[in-house]
Order: sequence, then structure tokens, then C-alpha cells
Amino acid sequence: MAAFTAEDPADHAYFRNHWARILQDPTTIVRTVIDDAGEIAGYASVFGPPGEREVTYWIGRRHWGKGVATAALRALLDLTPERPLHARAAADNHASIRVLEKCGFVATGTNRDFANARGEEIDELIFTLPG
Ligand SMILES: CC(C)(COP(=O)(O)OP(=O)(O)OC[C@H]1O[C@@H](n2cnc3c(N)ncnc32)[C@H](O)[C@@H]1OP(=O)(O)O)[C@@H](O)C(=O)NCCC(=O)NCCS
Repeated sequence: MAAFTAEDPADHAYFRNHWARILQDPTTIVRTVIDDAGEIAGYASVFGPPGEREVTYWIGRRHWGKGVATAALRALLDLTPERPLHARAAADNHASIRVLEKCGFVATGTNRDFANARGEEIDELIFTLPG
């Protein structure tokens, strides 16, 4: 579903370096998403320079369809007062688009870019949560 992934998602060294950089960046907010049973379900994050701050989230497949991403994004928005916030979703990632819309984001633009997970250029939608 996610399109703009690492070139090789199975590359553990890349994954570790990528996350080490994220976790050291004081401007990035990252929270682990815990489900009602206390199990780690994924993460939600706010990143980017002032004025261009974006949210992103990733939920493990077996937790899908239970409202976890929506609850996680709502919680993240509660602890992030800055507005506007932005988000991106592949135009065919309907679940993610729905999560954004449920949390008040509105589509404000489109972009076309190469997506590693699809091996081709695809359309993505740009969303904004207004102030
Ligand atoms: C996208 C993702 C975050 C959704 O997580 P989730 O916990 O299943 O989301 P929720 O249950 O909170 O909400 C999903 C909504 O999308 C809807 N939905 C799911 N599949 C859909 C589809 N194919 N078409 C339309 N709507 C769909 C659900 O019905 C639900 O809406 P509803 O509450 O109105 O019924 C999760 O699948 C994921 O992490 N995917 C991989 C990474 C990714 O795509 N991240 C986002 C990158 S922008």
C-alpha cells in the first residue's frame, strides 16, 4: 500500500541507519503505536522543516481495519499543536486517504514521483490539516 518506500525494504543495515537518523533528529516527533492489548502495532510521526511539517504512520498488517491508524493519528495531532500540517498518500492508498480525511485533512494538491514499491512513477495526493 505504501509506495514511497526504501529501494530494498529487506536491507536491514539501511533500515537501522535510517531509523538511527530519525531518532536522533530533535525536530522529528516519533511515537510507537500500542494497541488495546498492549502490543506494538506501528508508529506515527511528524517530521520536516517549519511550515512544511508532515505526518506519516505505518501500522502492521495484522492490526489493520480496527481503527488503529485513525486513533494513532488523532493522538499525534493532539500532542502536535502546530498547524498547518501536511501529509502525502499514494492516490491508490484508499485506506490511508480515509484515515487522513477522518482526521480533518483535506486534499490540496497532487504530485507525481518515482515510487520504489511500485517500480514506476505514480500519482500521490497532498493533504493539509488547516490551522
Ligand atoms: C493505511 C493504514 C495506515 C491504515 O491503517 P488502519 O489501522 O487499518 O486504518 P483505520 O482502521 O484507522 O482506518 C482505515 C479506513 O480506511 C477504510 N478502508 C480500508 N481499505 C479501504 C479501501 N480499499 N478503500 C476504501 N476505504 C478503505 C476503512 O474502512 C477505514 O475507514 P472507516 O473507519 O470509515 O471504515 C495501514 O494499512 C498501513 O499502515 N499501511 C501500510 C503503510 C501505509 O500505507 N502508510 C501510509 C502511507 S501514506
